Amino acid sequence: MTLQQQVSLQSFNTFGIDAQADYFTAAHSLTEAIEALQWAKAHQQPVLILGGGSNVLLMQDVRGLVLQVSLKGIERLAEDEDTVRLRVGAGEPWHPFVLHCVAQNWGGIENLSLIPGTVGAAPIQNIGAYGVEIKEVLESVEVLDCQDFSLHTFSNAACAFGYRDSIFKQTAQGKYLITAVTFVLQKKPVLHLTYGAIQQTLEAMQVTHPTIQDVSRAVCHIRSTKLPNPQEIGNAGSFFKNPEIDLAHYEQLKTVFPAMPSYAVANPAKVKVPAGWLIEQAGWKGVRQGNVGVHKDQALVLVNYGGAQGSEIVALASQVQAAVRAKFEIDLTPEINYI
Ligand code: FAD
Ligand code: EPU
Repeated sequence: MTLQQQVSLQSFNTFGIDAQADYFTAAHSLTEAIEALQWAKAHQQPVLILGGGSNVLLMQDVRGLVLQVSLKGIERLAEDEDTVRLRVGAGEPWHPFVLHCVAQNWGGIENLSLIPGTVGAAPIQNIGAYGVEIKEVLESVEVLDCQDFSLHTFSNAACAFGYRDSIFKQTAQGKYLITAVTFVLQKKPVLHLTYGAIQQTLEAMQVTHPTIQDVSRAVCHIRSTKLPNPQEIGNAGSFFKNPEIDLAHYEQLKTVFPAMPSYAVANPAKVKVPAGWLIEQAGWKGVRQGNVGVHKDQALVLVNYGGAQGSEIVALASQVQAAVRAKFEIDLTPEINYI
């Protein structure tokens, strides 16, 4: 284990916040991960587990040890005519893994192209985009208990997946280090084309019989026109979740705001409303306050124009929440993890 002291985390979080970690190490194997956790326990240091840092907001310097999960490897466990089972190291970067599968014509995650971060973090908030969530292709999650270093496997059902949610954000929060994820992908892919502008984009690309490669390219195109690239401007994707509100509340708002978009959800008593629309209507789209702001093209994305501290983002987020509450009586919940 290589342990560094007083390390800037600026290049380890996509917001680009320059917080310091007391200690930093990267674990490339299960042994290194256990060594790091044992070291932290022996020295009574708290541990922050980090993947690609694309869903965290560092509010201040991080006390204790930052442990970056870098366990690699894509292992084909089994396959038959229809499916392939893959066990993937938690430190594999997500998008290259998607491209690897797309290139083999293994379907199921092409709609999740270009999402930043690591494979190991993907189950934590059940990453989703363009009508697909990771829970639809995930078989199990392997974890290391951060306290007693025992190994466990969570089945899909045990992960208790929900919209941007899982057991790892609830009762098991901070308890485990995810080491690997097993997926079942389809060799005869079923395409998901109905969400958002996928169909339209494929038509513009003059694709009449789309493959999963085409879907992946279409999703990458849509995303790159909508979302700011963290390498150019610090951000962590959607800052808030899209709220699910009571049907009666929705119907009352719809009479005042007839143009308000909405989505049906599994619970018929609820309706999902896009937070980006609410923030824009509340007048915050494109607003800049010093180093931070609400993105000009996507109001759900808060950005660091450079040099921001986490506290500036937190202050902006609070004002946006207050404005949406005042106008719509809706509470926005952060999607990202405040550290
Ligand atoms: P990190 O930010 O490093 O960590 C996130 C949380 O998981 C932290 O609490 C951390 O402690 C914990 N964690 C990380 N790795 C492990 C591990 N191995 N074991 C245990 N705990 C761990 N998300 C979507 O769902 N859909 C999108 O379309 C989407 N688009 C995005 C677009 C942009 C431009 C950006 C910047 C982000 C986007 N995100 C999206 C959010 C983000 O990419 C995902 O949440 C991603 O899964 C985070 O991965 P990460 O490795 O960067 O996690
Ligand atoms: N909208 C506005 N103004 C804005 C932004 C959006 O009016 O500034 C409206 C759009 O016109 C559209 C609706 O809101 O009617 C939805 O917008 P969009 O399709 O851009 O998606 P989103 O709801 O903002 C969600 C996810 C994204 C995911 C996309 C595509 C959440 C919190 N966000 O965004 O995930 O990529 O759908 O599926 O569910 C993330 O989690 O970080 C993330 C980027």
